[in-house]
Amino acid sequence: MNLLSAKNISHSFDYELFHNVSLDLQQKESIAIIGVSGSGKSTLLHILSTLLTPDSGAISLFGNAVSSMDKKRLSKIKRDDLGLVFQSHYLFKGFSAYENLEVAAMLSNQRIDEDLLKKLNIDTVIEQKVTELSGGQQQRVSIARVLTKKPRIIFADEPTGNLDKKTAHDVMDLFFEYCDQSLAGMILVTHDEILAFKCQKVYKLENKELIRVK
Ligand SMILES: Nc1ncnc2c1ncn2[C@@H]1O[C@H](COP(=O)(O)OP(=O)(O)OP(=O)(O)O)[C@@H](O)[C@H]1O
Ligand SMILES: [Mg+2]
Repeated sequence: MNLLSAKNISHSFDYELFHNVSLDLQQKESIAIIGVSGSGKSTLLHILSTLLTPDSGAISLFGNAVSSMDKKRLSKIKRDDLGLVFQSHYLFKGFSAYENLEVAAMLSNQRIDEDLLKKLNIDTVIEQKVTELSGGQQQRVSIARVLTKKPRIIFADEPTGNLDKKTAHDVMDLFFEYCDQSLAGMILVTHDEILAFKCQKVYKLENKELIRVK
């Protein structure tokens, strides 16, 4: 099944970032987007995840055009089906890590998966306040938070940027396992080509175009 389809997306800020970008994401599929700093990867991810409306082009989610959805429908999809892991974590700072997961679980009517906390190696620090955690621990809590809601599509922008190599690869494997088991898909933006090439497809943003390189 087609989870996401983007057709002929173009976008400019002060200058044109990219044009005619098209992309399809299927269940169990992972796609990486690479490209030099400033090429527009994060902007493209914001567009694909419907946080930003492109200058032109169309996005469909689960077979429905985003432009024809009313606000309520789109909010529900964002809340239940889209999981965003972005460069800054947006955890609730005054709360413990566990309380952050409880909020996510409550909003999406899911349970906290204790096994997931062990796999991410945050089970022993989960009662601590977010501000008392290291950058990499915070990053893993935000990954746990996103997976707790059981999204159908994961959008991840450098999700492992604060992690050591081994932990980064473990986290990526967890994403792949999740997509496989939950029939979900992932779009990953990263500078790490080794991690990128672990995905089934790899695209590069270059000269304002999205080119398939794997
Ligand atoms: N909201 C905005 N308003 C104006 N310009 C913006 C905005 N967001 C991004 N830009 C510009 O668009 C360009 C691409 O930014 P973007 O964050 O998409 O790049 P990137 O490929 O993700 O880079 P990096 O690898 O450094 O994260 C940059 O020149 C940036 O200044
Ligand atoms: Mg970026």
